[in-house]
Amino acid sequence: MNDNKIAFAVIGGTGLTEIEGLEVIHREVVHTPYGEPSGQVTHGVIGETRIAFLARHGYTHTIPPHKVNYRANLWALKSLGVENIIAIAAVGGITRKMAPKTLVIPHQLIDYTYGRPHTFYEEGLTSVTHIDFSSPYTEVLRKALLKAGEEAGLDLINGATYGVTQGPRLETAAEIQRMERDGCDLVGMTAMPEAGLARELGLNYASCAVVANWAAGKSDREITMDEIGEHLSVGMARVRKLLKVLHC
Ligand code: HPA
Repeated sequence: MNDNKIAFAVIGGTGLTEIEGLEVIHREVVHTPYGEPSGQVTHGVIGETRIAFLARHGYTHTIPPHKVNYRANLWALKSLGVENIIAIAAVGGITRKMAPKTLVIPHQLIDYTYGRPHTFYEEGLTSVTHIDFSSPYTEVLRKALLKAGEEAGLDLINGATYGVTQGPRLETAAEIQRMERDGCDLVGMTAMPEAGLARELGLNYASCAVVANWAAGKSDREITMDEIGEHLSVGMARVRKLLKVLHC
């Protein structure tokens, strides 16, 4: 094991504020030019693999999706030498296969968010920069997640389009219908600007989405926090299994 090299960083979403089986080495406070990240970065090892962990919504889950300092989070991880980011996210399921508790490795996204600081290319520019974002998720990391899924005996869905909404409220049924017409399979609130910022920093980025509920209007029941919590506890137990055997 190379002690200095972090194999990957996990940005944990709702339902994943710590990783079971992670042997914590130390926790690090990182300051960035963009302000404070969501919390300390936890350094640890799972088996032989050195990883870093950051809870996107804070360790006590108090930062809503539109208030997360995505720039600081990504900058902090990059400054620690991280090259690979695995983003865990709770989402709603829109299309037929995206049932609650399912784990999905998205390959595309559509950004419906607004007003979030979303770029590092803002001030002190000597030229205007446009980054290629045709494929927002890094294919080698997606493959690594899918391979880990096979190894852990988990049934992951390969490929989905993740529509990113502003939140924190959930969507209307009409909004979900529109998103389905747009081609979205999943709806969540955090993939952007996170994925775009990772690309701007040259970081590899892939996500494991955990379906917490059927999206608005996709079941005949109201969406409750209880339902979301129940599905997430099953889904996140699967994510922990996945992370234990992930190599990248
Ligand atoms: N919509 C948006 N984000 C979500 C949902 C949803 O239904 N469920 C979990 N995160």
